[in-house]
Amino acid sequence: MADEPLVLGIETSCDETGVGIVRGHTLLADAVASSVDEHARFGGVVPEVASRAHLEAMVPTIQRALKEAGVAASDLDGIAVTAGPGLAGALLVGVSAAKAYAYALGKPLYGVNHLASHICVDQLEHGALPEPTMALLVSGGHSSLLLAPDITSDVRPLGSTIDDAAGEAFDKVARVLHLGFPGGPVIDRYAREGDPEAIRFPRGLTGSRDPVYDFSFSGLKTAVARWIEAKRAAGEEVPVADVAASFQEAVVDVLTRKAVRACKDNGVDHLMIGGGVAANSRLRALAQHRCEKAGITLRVPRPKLCTDNGAMVAALGAEMVARNRPASAWDLPADSSLPVTEPHVPAPDHDHGAHGHGGHGHDHDHFHELSKDNLYS
Ligand code: KG4
Ligand code: ZN
Repeated sequence: MADEPLVLGIETSCDETGVGIVRGHTLLADAVASSVDEHARFGGVVPEVASRAHLEAMVPTIQRALKEAGVAASDLDGIAVTAGPGLAGALLVGVSAAKAYAYALGKPLYGVNHLASHICVDQLEHGALPEPTMALLVSGGHSSLLLAPDITSDVRPLGSTIDDAAGEAFDKVARVLHLGFPGGPVIDRYAREGDPEAIRFPRGLTGSRDPVYDFSFSGLKTAVARWIEAKRAAGEEVPVADVAASFQEAVVDVLTRKAVRACKDNGVDHLMIGGGVAANSRLRALAQHRCEKAGITLRVPRPKLCTDNGAMVAALGAEMVARNRPASAWDLPADSSLPVTEPHVPAPDHDHGAHGHGGHGHDHDHFHELSKDNLYS
């Protein structure tokens, strides 16, 4: 509908330069430039390399998204950007670009949370999120169970990983198997040829006295590494497909078991899964199976919307506009450890109306009062 908010979202928290454009719950453009190949030989994302790649890709990716959406920048109702969490230098490129575009175009700026964006993106696939939303968020940096009565203002963590994130475990196991980086997609592929029951790897924090909603993947990662080392030491060949399948099964077994439990305990009849690991084919299949058995409706966006992208940021930005949430200040900082409980970063004085609701009238003079230090803090 034409009266729904038209928002451009910028994502630069890690190695993807993402620019998406949405109108309400409708995806109009999803342009992504990845620097993943530049990190592969280091076995992980190198922050400085990522920042430089964002800088080079930023303007062309914005132009590509506008062209793909067939809209003029002047038609936008707002510009949303990932304010955190993520790599500080990488976030800074997106935040600075968003400020420059928003200021030049006279549009409100919305600094939003990367994790809430991973949840909100599902609105582009399956329509309005039910409230409260139960979400399992699994990415390279986070693994959490979240209950969100309102994705724009109220996100409550039920549990999270006490050590490695799920995606991190995929990346580390792939490294031990010499499968390259990132590990998730390649393990997913190998696992299809393997037997998930070949090796019984440990399921972290599933004992009767363990915290019900927290996760732990560090012990699993170590168990897999030890198992592989023992094979190699004995001069035996490592059955890569079986290791991949058995490891993957251990991860997704725990994730889905705890997520379904959280839904039941909290009387929520649906489960949203988001973040890069939600692209995993076995996680999707097992979640579907277990949710069906429990009478829970599963909502998982298509894989391209699960991994980092700008559309998810635009989706949350559009929700901010639709719900009249206050815009962010021109000195919006990039916050590498922005807590999941803060879906967006409103201007501190928003209660007094200085930065307005719904899209009009930032206080432009305020911009000139800022020192360079403030702008880039
Ligand atoms: O959300 P994301 O794109 O970036 C972060 O915010 O971290 O997630 C990246 C993570 C990486 O650890 C990657 O290995 C994992 O998601 N991943 C997968 C799959 N695709 C990406 N993990 C398992 N299976 C996949 N198919
Ligand atoms: Zn992410």
